[in-house]
Amino acid sequence: MRETELIKKAKNARLKAYAPYSSFKVGAALLTKSGEVYTGSNVENSTYGLTVCAERVAVFKAINRGEKEFVKIVVVADKNQPITPCGACRQVLSEFAKDMEVVCANLKGKIKRYSLKELLPEAFENLPTDETDNLKHDG
Ligand code: THU
Repeated sequence: MRETELIKKAKNARLKAYAPYSSFKVGAALLTKSGEVYTGSNVENSTYGLTVCAERVAVFKAINRGEKEFVKIVVVADKNQPITPCGACRQVLSEFAKDMEVVCANLKGKIKRYSLKELLPEAFENLPTDETDNLKHDG
């Protein structure tokens, strides 16, 4: 999938944002290894704190469809400087991809490219994952 096509999909997704509190609409398009694209837009909540970013909506949609291998995510917002994913979204992406491309674009066609590793160099990944580890940690 070409990057211009992904950006277009993220722009379209952005139009579906539910952002009555901030009026700041964000769109995302997540490309998986299989070539599928999952889009997302931010969904705000009156509590403010329960708001979910566009990037996480895209990730959760992909996971829910059985896709776990991510290649690239495009994030689009209407700012002079393209925005980068928040810390929470970086951590959520890092759960599934050791590294991936993060493309940040604005509506005027300005693009900045990063690697996830560059945006989150020391992601948390130390939780024990099997019985033995659990026993070891429980003493
Ligand atoms: N937001 C995103 O959707 N993605 C980001 O990368 C940054 C922030 C949303 C959350 C909230 O609805 C609005 O933008 C303002 O923070």
